[in-house]
Amino acid sequence: MELNEARQKVKALSKKINEHNYRYYVLAEPVISDYEFDMMLEELISLEKQFPELLDKNSPSQRVGGQITKKFAAVKHKYPMLSLGNTYSREELLDFDRRVAKALGKDYEYVCELKFDGVAIGLTYENGELSRAVTRGDGVQGDEVTNNIKTIRSIPLTVEHPEALPAFELRGEVFMPHQSFLKLNTEKEKQSETPFANPRNAAAGSLKLQDSSLVSKRQLDCFVYGLLADDLPFNTHWESLEALQKWGFKLCAHRKKCDGIEDVFLFIDEIGKQRAKLPFDIDGVVIKVNSYAQQEELGFTSKFPRWAISYKYKAEQGYTRLIDVSYQVGRTGAVTPVANLEPVPVAGTTIKRASLYNADKMQELDLHFNDMVYVEKGGDIIPKIIGVDTGQREPGAIPVQFITQCPECSTTLAKLSGDAIHYCPNSMSCPPQIQGKIEHFISRRAMNIESLGQGKTELLIQHKKIHNIADLYDLKYNDIIGLEKVIEDTLTGKKRKVSFQHKTVKNILSAIEGSKNVPFERVLFALGIRHLGETMAKKLAKHFGSLDKLMNASTEELLAVDDVGEKMATSIHEFFDDLGNIRIVERLRQAGLQFSAEQSIAPGGGTLAGKSFVVSGVFEKYSRDEIKTLIEANGGEIKSSISTKTSFVVAGDKMGPEKQKKAESLQIPVISEDELEGMIG
Ligand code: IVH
Repeated sequence: MELNEARQKVKALSKKINEHNYRYYVLAEPVISDYEFDMMLEELISLEKQFPELLDKNSPSQRVGGQITKKFAAVKHKYPMLSLGNTYSREELLDFDRRVAKALGKDYEYVCELKFDGVAIGLTYENGELSRAVTRGDGVQGDEVTNNIKTIRSIPLTVEHPEALPAFELRGEVFMPHQSFLKLNTEKEKQSETPFANPRNAAAGSLKLQDSSLVSKRQLDCFVYGLLADDLPFNTHWESLEALQKWGFKLCAHRKKCDGIEDVFLFIDEIGKQRAKLPFDIDGVVIKVNSYAQQEELGFTSKFPRWAISYKYKAEQGYTRLIDVSYQVGRTGAVTPVANLEPVPVAGTTIKRASLYNADKMQELDLHFNDMVYVEKGGDIIPKIIGVDTGQREPGAIPVQFITQCPECSTTLAKLSGDAIHYCPNSMSCPPQIQGKIEHFISRRAMNIESLGQGKTELLIQHKKIHNIADLYDLKYNDIIGLEKVIEDTLTGKKRKVSFQHKTVKNILSAIEGSKNVPFERVLFALGIRHLGETMAKKLAKHFGSLDKLMNASTEELLAVDDVGEKMATSIHEFFDDLGNIRIVERLRQAGLQFSAEQSIAPGGGTLAGKSFVVSGVFEKYSRDEIKTLIEANGGEIKSSISTKTSFVVAGDKMGPEKQKKAESLQIPVISEDELEGMIG
């Protein structure tokens, strides 16, 4: 294709993709299938690869991310990013209204909006393009997070509306919808990572990720709620909001022009009723004087505008009795106290348990058994006890004391000085710790033996078939066939049967066998060395090249690696100084795991080198992720959709009809998992 023809094509494709993107993410009214959308995007990406000079910094292909921001630059806001005064009662709102009425002395209108609970963002558009996105920071200057913001599909990268201003700035809130939040936390738990406490923290954490392709997967969203420009052609805030909607921005439909404070109260009540059902978090309502001229007349106090205020809903509380306190032991041995309560309905759900965090928090509350307590469901997922009604305490009530022995293995608990957490030091044989280590080891990003997940490891540990990660490699068919158990989820009470049938056992054993091809960097991550995450494992694997070199590295040698600090160096030494760990590591070596980078199949090597694969459907022997790992471990490349460049489609049961059609029309060979095994040999 000629450059000129490609330029036309890139332009037309970008326009079409932007339109469909708008229909899907802003209007929620898609008119084409996800598949058709993906095909267009793939075509654009491939053209931009072929003609790099045609890649625009605001091309819709940038939504998938890929840019790394090493350090978020501090940028001064052109218009300071203000915050609002808070009110918590109608009286305070009436006071606000009286102040407004007194200062204006004439008619005025309010605009009521939701107070979104996310991260404030300032978006700058110049000549129809998003040029910068900056967080609030201290209001005067914030961090530039443009690369990450570009991955949010509902934020236009270009504005083509003929009436749009040549230069303007927007204020809005980046948030994580409940659905994305639940998905992210489930994923985090699966990977044995600490889940985010609430969607706000998840949104803030996501915006600060260095790799924008990870942000792209977090499914953030953004509502805009303010327009700023040097010569605004509008007289009211409401007109600005309407214009922004026309220009292609996403605004929340819950907003209202109000004639007076009574009208504002109606809006607050209405939203209060709907709040629990909204698909995102809000913590109140924002009330703004509509006319810009009147806003100017009212001006600012030293901290806040006098023309706007927020009304915050009270956190919903319950009052109930404490039955007892139980203690949970986590993967790292940390012991968390949990209050068991008489069930009480709060904000649409029944609360039976509440976190007590740690011994210090428990002491602060001065809890006694049978106390009547106040519980609160704030923005966090876990409800908390906020107070005790000591007036209701029975005489002679027994104070709750933090346990001294591990509830799982009876080992005496330890506490590091300066740390509020108690932990069980018996890391080698305390059951939840063993389970946590094994679950981390088999997780997708580590050894990817996911056919062993969902309660199966628990069953193997209970039947003493495995005591540590190395035991996995000694498992034999006859050891585990026929094991079964009904498992009850401690939180939801749901029951599930876990059983080891012929097919399951075969799958598990072949997945364990397959894990011997997992590259060294992931083996290192899988070992579960404290503080050693995925990125660090990659760095260390690259730097030292083998486990032996890493094990023998001095503190100085460790500290010489980028991003390795004292804490990490100590943790690595502690791990390899432990004889129990050394024994396990040696058994893993004997089992044939990859302990050096050279041993791992390098990119460009392997029987599948140079071939690209699309994996679709449900398989018998492996999970879809395991098939992908197998292909990559043997040098093949995984693609998400079929194109002329695809070498093979590996198909299982229920392969999508669209994919089947596409493979047929492009004459791409479709192979089974057995045929794939055959190719690998
Ligand atoms: S207007 C001068 N509108 O609340 C007006 N803010 O305390 C400044 N927020 O940092 C902000 N929803 O993060 C405004 N509809 C809304 C909002 C909103 C959430 C947040 C924003 C800001 C904080 C102000």
